[in-house]
Amino acid sequence: MRAIKLFSVGLLLFFAGCKVSQPGGIETKIATQMKQKITVGGKDVPNPLPATPENIREGQEHFSHHCQVCHGLDGQNTGVPFAEHMSPPVLSLASKDVQDFKDGQLKWIIENGINPSGMPAWMGIVDDQEMWKIVHFLRHLPPKGSLGVPAIYQEEAAEHEHMRSKEQGGKSGAAPAGEQSPRQHSHAH
Ligand code: HEC
Repeated sequence: MRAIKLFSVGLLLFFAGCKVSQPGGIETKIATQMKQKITVGGKDVPNPLPATPENIREGQEHFSHHCQVCHGLDGQNTGVPFAEHMSPPVLSLASKDVQDFKDGQLKWIIENGINPSGMPAWMGIVDDQEMWKIVHFLRHLPPKGSLGVPAIYQEEAAEHEHMRSKEQGGKSGAAPAGEQSPRQHSHAH
């Protein structure tokens, strides 16, 4: 649990550094088309596993282990603070753009990641069978928001609230460097 927390803090720092530019609609569109037509392989590879309730449930378990930190428990970014500030933003996995991928392409994306962007490659971390189960879960995502906010961000959000009320108490002029970054502050907790 502690390791996960540290990992998430690291991620937040990482993403804070790269939310400089928002891509325009055209740029996003081109990137999507490139992903679909050129870069993403696996188009003709069918999912070897049946979409049984069991496989979907297992896929969900793997998803909540590896993916929720960026995609939310529901795959639709619920409660993920940086998702929409990324460039490109993290798409809802329920969106048409994502659902338009074939099963084999989704598996390929999970396996290889999307480069350059924040989507990591899972080859060697998640095995083949697990990836195919995750793909089944992606086809059966729960309604947006229905699973709540990932636990790590609940804490994060509570800390932010706490800090905000403290900050409103005192600061008017320039604050010492250490106090300007909420993230630095939350590290000390
Ligand atoms: C470190 C954050 C992070 C983690 C962890 C992560 N992803 Fe992603 N994912 C992203 C980002 C950012 C994108 C958008 C990339 C893009 O559009 O170029 C993305 C995109 C995707 C897409 C394609 C959507 C698109 O943009 O076309 C799929 C499918 C996906 N992720 C599935 C997963 C699965 C399954 C896992 C867990 C095994 C996972 N992701 C873990 C950050 C993450």
